Amino acid sequence: MRDTHPIFAAVFTGVAAIGERTGYGRRRAEALADARGRLLVVGLGPGHDLAHLPTGVTEVVAVEPEPSMRARSARRISRAPAPTWLVGATAEELPLRSSSVDAALVALVLCSVSDPAMAAAELRRVLRPGGTLHVLEHVHASPDSWLRPWQDRLDPLWSRLAAGCHLTRDTRQILLTAGFDTTQLRDTTVRLAPAVVAPHLIGTAR
Ligand SMILES: C[S@@+](CC[C@H](N)C(=O)[O-])C[C@H]1O[C@@H](n2cnc3c(N)ncnc32)[C@H](O)[C@@H]1O
Repeated sequence: MRDTHPIFAAVFTGVAAIGERTGYGRRRAEALADARGRLLVVGLGPGHDLAHLPTGVTEVVAVEPEPSMRARSARRISRAPAPTWLVGATAEELPLRSSSVDAALVALVLCSVSDPAMAAAELRRVLRPGGTLHVLEHVHASPDSWLRPWQDRLDPLWSRLAAGCHLTRDTRQILLTAGFDTTQLRDTTVRLAPAVVAPHLIGTAR
């Protein structure tokens, strides 16, 4: 059975709420900007992305393996501007038919999945041809950054404290290897985050 992380869920929910008030919500809206149709949200967490759905999203299917996170998203699901269904499942084994969604969102989740290659392959499978993958992920800093050795050093401790989240994921390469066109993804720095999670990848992969 998968470990549960109720303390992390409580802490992250508070941090995410502060983020909404201090600029991170703008990043969420930017990542989702041109999402349309049936949207899969992977690792919904407390559900803050639901407040940023563009009007073109007609339905949301969300997966979230952590029971306490699912409980924490209930209020935001009830207020979502599109009908939202939440399922207890993982990114590595999406309970969806192939080519069954128009768009998918990964926000702060590929850092945490146990098998990012399998998760990316599953995303490829469930997205319809021409579908869009919306990305807002903190990532490994570039090889010439002063931050990168700190991420490497802190990763084992960080991962234990943050429910398996890693500071060292090369998400662009993971998506490339799974067959995504990543040319519309860009590197950016989120200055509001703690420095080790400041380097982000944002945009849309196809
Ligand atoms: C840092 S939180 C981010 C939550 C939300 N996406 C957001 O941006 O606020 C990471 C989330 O990924 C979920 N998660 C962890 N492993 C996962 C997996 N294998 N598949 C799907 N979600 C997973 C966690 O339970 C948690 O809710």
